[in-house]
Order: sequence, then C-alpha cells, then structure tokens
Amino acid sequence: MNRPRHPGHTERNPTPGTPPRQRTLDTREKALNSNPTHQDTSADPTTGWWTEAVIYQIYPRSFADSDGDGVGDLPGITARLDHLTELGVDAVWLSPFYPSPQADAGYDVADYRDVDPLFGTLADADKLITESRARGLRVIVDLVPNHTSSAHRWFAAALAAAPGSPERDRYVFRDGKGPDGAQPPNDWQSVFGGPAWTRITEADGRPGQWYLHLFDTGQPDLNWDNPQVRAEFLDVLRFWLDRGVDGFRVDVAHGLIKQADLADWEEPQEILSGQTVDKPRPPMWDQDGVHEVYREWRALLDSYPGERVLVAEAWVEPAERLARYVRPDEMHQAFNFEFLLASWTAPAQYAVITRSLEATDAVGAPTTWVLSNHDVVRHASRLGLDTSAGRPNGVGIGDPQPDAALGLRRARAATLLMLALPGSAYLFQGEELGLPEHTTMPDEARQDPTWLRSGQTQRGRDGCRVPIPWEADAPSYGFGPTDASWLPQPPMWAEYALDRQRGTPGSTYELYRTALRLRREHGLGRGTLRWRETGDEVLAFDNAGLTVLTNFGPTPVPPPAGELVATSGPLDADSRVPADVTVWVRAS
Ligand code: GLC
Ligand code: MG
Repeated sequence: MNRPRHPGHTERNPTPGTPPRQRTLDTREKALNSNPTHQDTSADPTTGWWTEAVIYQIYPRSFADSDGDGVGDLPGITARLDHLTELGVDAVWLSPFYPSPQADAGYDVADYRDVDPLFGTLADADKLITESRARGLRVIVDLVPNHTSSAHRWFAAALAAAPGSPERDRYVFRDGKGPDGAQPPNDWQSVFGGPAWTRITEADGRPGQWYLHLFDTGQPDLNWDNPQVRAEFLDVLRFWLDRGVDGFRVDVAHGLIKQADLADWEEPQEILSGQTVDKPRPPMWDQDGVHEVYREWRALLDSYPGERVLVAEAWVEPAERLARYVRPDEMHQAFNFEFLLASWTAPAQYAVITRSLEATDAVGAPTTWVLSNHDVVRHASRLGLDTSAGRPNGVGIGDPQPDAALGLRRARAATLLMLALPGSAYLFQGEELGLPEHTTMPDEARQDPTWLRSGQTQRGRDGCRVPIPWEADAPSYGFGPTDASWLPQPPMWAEYALDRQRGTPGSTYELYRTALRLRREHGLGRGTLRWRETGDEVLAFDNAGLTVLTNFGPTPVPPPAGELVATSGPLDADSRVPADVTVWVRAS
C-alpha cells in the first residue's frame, strides 16, 4: 500500500520564486588558511557552510598513531589529512584530546585548555588546525560541559573544602539519605550502569557527602546554576575560538541542567534510549534551562568573525523537542539520532526522513544525518543484526553475531541514501572503508567503563573504536609504525585496508568518494527533497536533478529512467535494483 504523498512538505525554499540558496564561500576555492579570523560574513542560517557540510568524525585514539605507542595522536592525524581531502569531506570533528585520566576515553576532561601528552601538545593542535584549514577543511572540537574529570582542579578543591562551600557548589554534592547519610540522595542510575552517586570521604576522614555523576565515577557532573561554571565555559570557548576552530560539538548537551528537586526517577539510564513521547521527561535530561546556556554561547560565537558553529549531542526525542536546540539563536545543528536508530524498512525510513526535515524546517535549521559514531555499533554490523530483541550496547564473543555480508550491503545502501538527502551529514572514521564492528574482541581487552559498571552485562562501545586499517600488509595495518594498538584489531582487517580499496572499482571507499563528489557537484546538501514513491518496500525521491531509489524489499525493481551515476551494489542480470541497494540516477 502506498503512503499518501505530501507534496511540498519537504520543500526547503518556502517562498515560490525564491532563488536556490547560494553559498557565499566555497570551502574548496577560498582556502581557509589566510588566517583564522578571515573576513567572510558572520554565520548565515540559510547559506552557512554547515547547512550542507559533510563532517568526518575523527576519534583521535584510533585514527593514526605517529609515535608507535599504540594510541593515535594529533601528529598522526595531521600526517593523514590528505586522505580526508581525497575522500571529499568538508570538515572534521575531533573527539576530545585534552588532558585526561582517560576514564572514559577522554570524555573526562581534567584541563579544557591543553592537550594530553598521549595525543601531543598544544603546538600539535595548532598545527592540525592550520594544516586542515589550509586544505579547506573546517575543524570542530569536542566540548564536554556536563561534567569534568575527577582529576580537574575544581574537583580536587571541592573534595578539600567543606560541605556547603563555594568549591562544592560547582558540582552537585548532596547529603545522603538515611540516619547516617549512607543512602544515595536519589535513585538515579549512571548511564554506564550502577548508581549515579558516589560517597566521598571528608577531609577529616569521616564518610561524607555524595556527588552526582551521570556517567563514570571519574566524571562528576557540574552545577550549571553556578555562575562560575558558566563563566568558565565561556572562557574555554574563547580559548579555542581564538585558536581558529570553526566550532564545537557539545557533549551531552541535553544534560547540563537537572530538575531542581532532583526527584527520583525509577528508570534505568541508557545513553541511547533517549526519551519517548509517551513517558514523562526524565529529571536529568532536556530540561528547559539548558537553552539559556546555548543562547549565551551562540551570542559569543556570533561575536567572532567567520562562521563558527555549535552542534548538539542531545539524545532527545521526538524531533520537535530536538529542534528546540537549533532555534535561530541557539545551536546550528543537532545530531539526528532518530535517523541513526531507525529500522531498515521503507516505512521507518520514510517516516524518520520526513519528520526530521519537517522538524528542522519549522525552526529554519538544517537537517543532519548520521549512521555511525564512537558510541554505537557500526552500521555495517548493526544493519546485519537481528534486532528483534532490541538493539545491543556492543557485541562480543558469545553474543549473536551480525551477518557481515548483509550488514555491509545494507550499510552501503543506507549511506548512499543518506548522502543524497538535503542537509548536513556526519561520517565516522572507518565507515568509508565499510569497516564492521569488532564483534569478537576478548572481554579482557575491553576499556569502555560500560563493561565493568554494568556488571559485565553490557559489552559497550569498544567494538566501534578499534584503530582503523590503512595498509593491508603493514604492522597494525598502518595505524602506526609498530604493532601496538590500544584495542586489538581483528585478523580480517587487511581486506578493509585503505590501500586495498583505493582505486578498486566497487570498493566501499570508492563508493563514498563517488557519492561525495556527486553530492558536491549537484548541491544535494542544499537541494529540495520531493518524494516519488513511498511504498512499503521501495522509497524514491528527487533532489537537485537526481532521482534516488532504495529497494528495501526482496523483489528487484527497475531503476528510475535516466543515467545511472551511482549504485551501492550491482544491479541484477535484468538491470533491476535488487534488495538492499540504493541507486542514484540523473535525468537524461
Ligand atoms: C557522550 C559521548 C560519549 C561519552 C559521554 C560522556 O555521549 O559521546 O562517548 O561517554 O558523552 O561524556
Ligand atoms: Mg601515539
């Protein structure tokens, strides 16, 4: 049964006769290297670079290791920047590289204005920023405002100070419940498992107050009602803006403000579950007060020359609620996790694409798309899992294993569908190689706090964080100069290595390159989506002179008329589009 079509509801130029949006600055031609305060116009909500950008997430630990210690680093990234320009992305987002005890792979920041020696020096960061921008690549860094590391000087000061002191007030300290204060202040659970509260020992040696950590014990939550916290982060933003970064990915953007009464919440916490429409909003997520923080940040970014952007990592549903983070005076983008979480069926994909476009159109923000990141099972494996029993938080030995061939086939189709959509898209390092999750990693090798904190019931996120393969026959597959790799690489990594795929027709890498080139040439990111077919098995739409068709069903279908310019997999013997294949066709 065909779903009703909704002509026009995804039109992105509301006024008839409005000329198509033109970019004021071509990121390729006008090198961004002149200096970080180049004189392009301030952020324009409809034509800014981010509205159609393809942004590549670098997870520094696992991208490229320059010194052979088994951990990727900033000089390693700088040495591999040409890969990103060859691939054809517009910007990079770097996961945290700041000084950190690495309790949560760097999302536990001890100093927001420096670089961890593991990753290099501040001079290495400057060089990476300069060299990226010299190639026309924008640079977004990660900002972690919900919590610091327990090794942050503020937390040390809070522990040394007395209950009720200004030092404690920068975090969320409370007395415990029960006669001896031996019970946590409320029933909140950590996202990684276990209670969200840890009791401290006071300076005099007695059992003392409790502090809140929605994540690991090494990640105490900040108190965003405290003016010092607000001032500090404005200053951290300035620090990196002055160094020339193009923007910030804001970690746990929906978590900063907690409901004032810290009311009990009888539910477990899950980083990926988000909130559903039919349940009340949890007291720790998506509180209205967060928006005031982002308005202040936006004003600061707008006071800088160039087009600097804020991107929200907010696990918030539904799309209308998420859209509040990208209202005109707030952030520029928010990750579309509803798209990432959507099932691989035509009705589910149709629904999420339509809803996403409508929700962001309503606030005049660009829509974003994402399929993989460092927190979820890579889509080349996720789409090969039987998820009827729910979506696993990691896959390990003994768990049901994905169908690798099916997963890759669907992942390629999903990517080709995603890259044809109007808006901005995020890629996670390695997905351009069709890299699967490492699903048989020995549990002893696991580093994600999720595994231990969940009492070894949730395998966690290590499987998507494995260092990526560059060269099939080199030590650590070319990740670094030695065999060392902070997480073990699976034996079959060689077949995914970049040097095996580069120039190989039909390889996943060449598919990404083709798609990114065509996306740029056609201006797909700034186009208008018009549905052609929205059945139960096939989706097809037009965008900027291309027709895109994905076959989700088992029955092969004829491709749309025109010249076939990209396909995620081979057509069948009768030139039809088989199951789990996306094609791009140019009207002839
Ligand atoms: C975000 C990050 C994740 C991290 C968490 C706590 O969700 O993406 O990796 O563990 O925040 O900072
Ligand atoms: Mg290293």
